[in-house]
Amino acid sequence: MKKIHVSTGKPYDIIIEKGVIDCAGSFAVQLSTAQKACVVTDTNVAPLYLDRVVKSLESAGINTVTHIFEAGEKSKHLGTISEIYATLADFRMTRKDIIVALGGGVCGDMAGFAAASYLRGIDFIQIPTSLLAQVDSSVGGKTGVDLPQGKNLVGAFHQPLAVLIDPDTLGTLPGEFKTDGMGEVIKYGCIKDAGFFEKLQNENAWDDIESIIETCVSIKRDVVSRDEKEAGERMLLNFGHTLGHAIEKLNDFSGITHGMAVAIGMVMISLAGEKHKITPAGTTEKIAALCEKYGLPVSTRLSVHEIAEAAKGDKKTAGGSINLVLLNSIGDSFIKKTALDDLEDFITV
Ligand SMILES: NC(=O)c1ccc[n+]([C@@H]2O[C@H](COP(=O)([O-])OP(=O)(O)OC[C@H]3O[C@@H](n4cnc5c(N)ncnc54)[C@H](O)[C@@H]3O)[C@@H](O)[C@H]2O)c1
Ligand SMILES: [Zn+2]
Repeated sequence: MKKIHVSTGKPYDIIIEKGVIDCAGSFAVQLSTAQKACVVTDTNVAPLYLDRVVKSLESAGINTVTHIFEAGEKSKHLGTISEIYATLADFRMTRKDIIVALGGGVCGDMAGFAAASYLRGIDFIQIPTSLLAQVDSSVGGKTGVDLPQGKNLVGAFHQPLAVLIDPDTLGTLPGEFKTDGMGEVIKYGCIKDAGFFEKLQNENAWDDIESIIETCVSIKRDVVSRDEKEAGERMLLNFGHTLGHAIEKLNDFSGITHGMAVAIGMVMISLAGEKHKITPAGTTEKIAALCEKYGLPVSTRLSVHEIAEAAKGDKKTAGGSINLVLLNSIGDSFIKKTALDDLEDFITV
């Protein structure tokens, strides 16, 4: 068992262990005085893992209800949150009781937001089952939902009681979502860990995915512990994301996954870094080769002009400028504040 401690305002542990989903009940009992739990999950994950989690909670003496929503990003809106609230209220859950998020990032973000807001905040346990959720979204306490106007526009910082990562659940994850999550895995190497980047180059990440998850979670833990509310260093996690989000938006969030768009964004911004003599020549080639190795695209038919225009509408722009994440070298990143008016020029190579 790997235990990674996160010392945010409310500290918690991330447990990485095969089969840990069968221990949800004992963790809930150790960490809370809950008498009731609501397991929130989606229609794909429910038939695979819900019974095991419910059984574990019930055997630990916790009275459990389930809430299953239609899988997919399209469910990530306030309507679903309202339905989750109804399940919690009908089950007469109190502030002592807990929510368990069992699923990918969509599930974790929504169950976490329901936990952050129901009765002004109750505890929740994350059991992430997609690669993206295991290496990224379940760590750091960001929760939320989309609005018709944009992604993740409503939410809260709400740290979980614990994160239970069971690498065995990845065995049922469809290939496209495995590839998608690798975009974030490669990102961690780029921004913080050249040795990890080399490991991804020289080995097959899937041969030892448990240690890959551990490294990613440790990197994210270090960053969010130092900057819980994204005032500075946490922005480094957005490497490839400013342009990636723009590419996702221009594709109407369909046909291209988040990880694919981030891969293209990482390659574009690294190339811009090379042009400005910030990033050493040849870096982009290495990043692109690694993305391709794990099945991710590295270019788009969209024009730089279109991407720059779409990026200017990003929710993370502030006061006429945008924070771009650039590489001094692989494993060493920094934030460069760039005027929106200069963005297109900066990324044109
Ligand atoms: N909170 C954060 O810090 C943060 C960070 C990054 C991304 N996110 C959010 O995460 C979401 C994307 O997460 P995602 O890619 O996990 O999406 P997702 O939750 O939709 O999961 C992807 C797909 O895989 C299925 N699935 C999940 N685990 C499975 C398993 N073990 N076996 C079979 N199928 C499984 C799901 O049903 C879904 O169809 C986005 O909404 C994004 O905004 C949040
Ligand atoms: Zn991402």
